[in-house]
Amino acid sequence: MRKLIIAIDGYSSTGKSTLAKLLAKSLGYIHIDSGAMYRAITLYVIENKMIDGGNIDEESLLNNLDSIDIHFEYNPETQQNEVFLNGENVEKKIRQMKVSSKVSLVAKIPEIREHAVNLQRKLGESKGIVMDGRDIGTTVFPKADIKIFLTTSAEIRAKRRYNELLKTEQPSTYEEVLENIAERDRTDTQRKVSPLRMAEDAILVDNGELSPQQTLQIVLQLINERFPNSH
Ligand code: CDP
Repeated sequence: MRKLIIAIDGYSSTGKSTLAKLLAKSLGYIHIDSGAMYRAITLYVIENKMIDGGNIDEESLLNNLDSIDIHFEYNPETQQNEVFLNGENVEKKIRQMKVSSKVSLVAKIPEIREHAVNLQRKLGESKGIVMDGRDIGTTVFPKADIKIFLTTSAEIRAKRRYNELLKTEQPSTYEEVLENIAERDRTDTQRKVSPLRMAEDAILVDNGELSPQQTLQIVLQLINERFPNSH
């Protein structure tokens, strides 16, 4: 049985994590949400007052990089890997709008990307992994066995994220969510270091009209065609 590395990239709120989670479950692989790492570092920046409006105190952040421990632990209840920041489970905190509104600023700092990419590559060493993010197929695992690029309109993405946030203690307005998504699309595609773009050998999937299960079936079929012995 050959163990694969599967990269899922795409814009904000296209359902990358949903697909990655379902895929990992079907294949018996581990799932790593690389965005959770950038979000956890952003939470650290906020909690340690290293940000003022749009200005990050990069010097303090980079000097403290060694004291930011980020790791994942599997939670059997939610059946997913959850992210820990210096020993605290921050899976819920990192999804708040106060983090979403700053994360792309943190994620564009070259030294932060290098640090996160090194951690991500370590997690992929034993293969049998589905990782989702923005630069997994282009930078983290350029030799990934399967690369999927998910896309759909900003309005559909905002609606999905808005509905998700409604279930939390800190809901936002639809307009606020749409604006945040558009802003992150801009920052993520325009940054200098590994900007969000589709890898040449990635498969483009527009899931605007597809349910999570339908998206999963399409990708599973692709995997079975290419790698009949992957699970
Ligand atoms: O779930 P959502 O699509 O809203 O975002 P996420 O995957 O949690 O990622 C949050 C942010 O982290 C993105 O907007 C990017 O700025 C950054 N990110 C990145 O730069 N590279 C990655 N591999 C993953 C996330």
